Amino acid sequence: MTPPRGHIAHLGYAILDTPDLAATAWFFENILGMTEVRRVDGMSLLRAYDDYEECSVIARQAPTSGIGRVAFRTSSEAELESRVIALLDAGREGHWEDGIAGRGRTFVFTGPDTHELALYYDTDWYVAPEHLAAGLKNQAQAKPNRGVGVRRFDHVNFLAAHPATDADFMVDVLGGRRTEQIRMNDGRIAAAWVTFTDKSYDVVFTEDWTGGNGRLHHLAFAADTREDILRAADLALDLGVHIETGPHKHAIQQTFFLYLFEPGGNRIEICNPLTRLVLAPDWPVVTWTEPERARGQAWGLGTIETFHTHGTPPTEGQDTRVYRPTGMLGKRPSGDARR
Ligand SMILES: [Fe+2]
Repeated sequence: MTPPRGHIAHLGYAILDTPDLAATAWFFENILGMTEVRRVDGMSLLRAYDDYEECSVIARQAPTSGIGRVAFRTSSEAELESRVIALLDAGREGHWEDGIAGRGRTFVFTGPDTHELALYYDTDWYVAPEHLAAGLKNQAQAKPNRGVGVRRFDHVNFLAAHPATDADFMVDVLGGRRTEQIRMNDGRIAAAWVTFTDKSYDVVFTEDWTGGNGRLHHLAFAADTREDILRAADLALDLGVHIETGPHKHAIQQTFFLYLFEPGGNRIEICNPLTRLVLAPDWPVVTWTEPERARGQAWGLGTIETFHTHGTPPTEGQDTRVYRPTGMLGKRPSGDARR
């Protein structure tokens, strides 16, 4: 079969650091409806039901929250080699590692803002055990009968000191396309959205107001319908998971969303962007001005303050609370969702 166009085929997996692995894994299983493939060496491998690979999230026990790595699958073995050459030519240092979570050899490097990134091509295709087998042969796994049942790991939103620098890196070295951006009155780019696929975005860089580097704003997971987002909010309410904001609709990219804090403190988005594709090969970058951004979301409530201040890992003076759900593991609500 002809390989997909472009150097990068799609987002592969994220390593998400958490100070409470059991609670974080519980969140992904019971709110997002993902399936834990296995837990080994302080890591929980978690998959969405439509992942053709073994997993798309690796929750990792760590001293604090944050993003450990985001890995991309290249379009071919040749494209893996070509991107490594391009990275080295661009002055990015990196090294080869044995793959993890069913992936083959992997080139690990850092982006301009020090986020750990990785490229691989070889991968194991997931074969569901009998009790998780789907009714249709073109679906990797049956929909879980718990949580929302998100379809896939949709996008990552990194915090960065200079979003334009990181977005340019994704475009110039890895072959992405910038689809939307925010330009402030002084001309600086406060956020940029980049895609490697027909989805309107796979990676976002947002200005980190704290001056930190290598931090995460959120990971996002796509649900099949808007109704799933509302159900996720109800589930979060019942299980005592902290709802930061939503459900609302973003103006930029028009995504319908809900933002939750998983128990380790990382922000997780459940989104419904499935109907919006960028098919035009000559798509012009949509630029939102500072006054346009100040209007807030498309509709729903205004943008909550923590959306601009909370990132992981926390920087000095930032909120370091662990958001333990009141309903997890059969415990009854204690009256305060936070500890
Ligand atoms: Fe998002």
